[in-house]
Amino acid sequence: MNVADSEIVSSILDQSGYTKTDSIESADVILINTCSIRENAEIRVRGRLSVFKKQKNEHKAIVGVLGCMAERLKDDLIKQEKTVDLVIGPDSYRLLPQMIEEALSGRKVVQTMLSDDETYEDIIPVRYDSNGVSAFVSIMRGCQNFCSYCIVPYVRGVERSRNPQTILKEIEDIQAKGYKEITLIGQNVDSYNFSETNFAKLLNIVALAFPQMRIRFSTNHPKDLSNEVLETMAKYANICRHIHLPVQSGSNHMLQLMNRGYTREYYLERVDAIRKYIPDCAISTDIMVGFCDETEEDHQQTLLLMKEVGYDFAFMFKYSERSGTYASKNMKDNIPEKEKIRRLNEVIDLQNKIGRISKEKELGKTFEVLVEGKSKKSDKEYMGRNSQNKVIVFPSDKALKSGDIVNVQVERFTSATLIGNII
Ligand code: 5AD
Ligand code: SF4
Repeated sequence: MNVADSEIVSSILDQSGYTKTDSIESADVILINTCSIRENAEIRVRGRLSVFKKQKNEHKAIVGVLGCMAERLKDDLIKQEKTVDLVIGPDSYRLLPQMIEEALSGRKVVQTMLSDDETYEDIIPVRYDSNGVSAFVSIMRGCQNFCSYCIVPYVRGVERSRNPQTILKEIEDIQAKGYKEITLIGQNVDSYNFSETNFAKLLNIVALAFPQMRIRFSTNHPKDLSNEVLETMAKYANICRHIHLPVQSGSNHMLQLMNRGYTREYYLERVDAIRKYIPDCAISTDIMVGFCDETEEDHQQTLLLMKEVGYDFAFMFKYSERSGTYASKNMKDNIPEKEKIRRLNEVIDLQNKIGRISKEKELGKTFEVLVEGKSKKSDKEYMGRNSQNKVIVFPSDKALKSGDIVNVQVERFTSATLIGNII
């Protein structure tokens, strides 16, 4: 999400005559795009800001904070961080050029109005991806699910979907630039809705219009993932076989307190539906431990569910209270830090085992791999991903380019990657 937003910001600034520099010493304006989802993310931003202080003093650069942290803290950020000159929320990027002018003239500027309809749909983002293979396309903004722990609805505003015509135009541009893969992104892509076009219809239109392009999407919401979406995935080979379906917890008690809008049983039924429609689909998830009132029994339910689903991959977090959320106002963050860490480590250990099983199942299979570049470890090896989003490393005598497609048979694996040979 943040990469996509930074690309929009770059495009807006390009049009106003600014150019991007790779050396911080030569920057007149330093912008940092931020996330607020966990406290750690904000701590890292504050760390970066202290690095920018030197730049500000020695080279008279101005420093701006963009995105969710800007939206959450507004003028407080200017008061708390003396380095900051500009605070711009996620719906105000069009105003950046004039705000930068104001900041350059010595004023502190804060602009954090949220909008009901801004989608930046007419802006063709500048692409950052250095290997030129894969690009993000934002199809909607905001979220109104109000999961009780989550700050996103407060800092990204109401949900709004982008006109499909402008999405198609953007993908045409991406294709013309030589990219081979797109990821349609939104906080909850399953609730995409523009006039008569729901997410399944959008997928259908995109898959049909760009048969040579690999199509991914993220993030799905278990309560909204429809059979129509699964049927559409099954129908088109160019829609990748991977669904990221955050579960958060395996306990109904927790899911209710989190306001997730589904039960454990409903979630498992959706997983069954995925397996039925798309038997070779990889499933990944987000899991959060240590939310308010989580008992050992609740935690065990999460571990059981993880085994039952057999996730290919998981992002795992411990609950971090965010001020302004429903939970911060109405619930007690009452699981001791030490216990949160213990539960998180249990979840991580289990996922390592489950991930191993998921990789073992791939031994001997052959996958179409989209080459992203050389592998990190060796100049003679390449890396890419299969449709299931699994990283595969393989040697090649023939020189390959990013964007090439090769068939690779999996022979072994490490903790993070599958390893094989071209056949
Ligand atoms: N604390 C910890 N993790 C969180 N997430 C969202 N809010 C919080 C929070 N307050 C996690 C959820 C979500 C992912 C993007 O971040 O698991 O799916
Ligand atoms: Fe946050 Fe829930 Fe929206 Fe995801 S669906 S962004 S967790 S409120």
